[in-house]
Amino acid sequence: MRKKLLLGNWKMNKTVAESKEFASKVAPIAELAKKNNILVGVAPTFLSLDAVKQGTKDFIVASQNCHFEDSGAFTGEVSIPMLKAIDIDWVIIGHSERRQYDNETDEKCNKKIKKLVANGMTSVYCVGETLKEFEKGLTKEVVGRQLREGLKELNAADFDKIVVAYEPVWSIGTGKNASEEIAQDICSFVRETIKDMYGEVSSKVLVIYGGSVKPENIAGYLSQKDVDGALVGGASLKIESFEAMVKALV
Ligand code: 13P
Repeated sequence: MRKKLLLGNWKMNKTVAESKEFASKVAPIAELAKKNNILVGVAPTFLSLDAVKQGTKDFIVASQNCHFEDSGAFTGEVSIPMLKAIDIDWVIIGHSERRQYDNETDEKCNKKIKKLVANGMTSVYCVGETLKEFEKGLTKEVVGRQLREGLKELNAADFDKIVVAYEPVWSIGTGKNASEEIAQDICSFVRETIKDMYGEVSSKVLVIYGGSVKPENIAGYLSQKDVDGALVGGASLKIESFEAMVKALV
């Protein structure tokens, strides 16, 4: 049985003080999640990672990015050893906003994922098509390419530390959800592609959906057989709606 996963992506939101305030209210939610075999957590900005990690227990604290080099002349970047030093062992890779604004290519994602695997850390690899690609019926072509490039040169055993998040770009922050059927179809396609690349391990990989997920619709997505969880932006910012989403999964 695969576990369920709810991961909030805070994007460029919350000061350190605001992050700490959220963290101070997490304990009962984390406990409820643990009791029900649900993995929960959030991805704050680099600045708040340490505070949220220190202020919570049984709660995933993920970075929104990392560099693939350990150190060097890369202004504005944060490396894997730096994250490890503050006990951060989950990292979101290839979010569509980074692909769109920060030249995050499949190639770069692959370098980062390989480095994370080598460090025993978990990657949440984001894939998804733009509205134009969706309208042209190119979803599987685009997602397939992102998977084959981003996840190349790994071993089947690495997949207990890899989560794939399908986030159609047209549904992010727009309130335009992909239907449950689309989410299921593409999450199942993700699993099939991983099966083709690495074999039976695909049945154990967590594949999650993201894009305008909220307390009212999260259970519907999770009722789909290949959707193991959700990557949530806006609705993860308030502790009340975060809690409501966990309760909807119990
Ligand atoms: P929203 O939930 O705000 O649509 O954002 C989704 C997302 O990009 C999570 O990574």
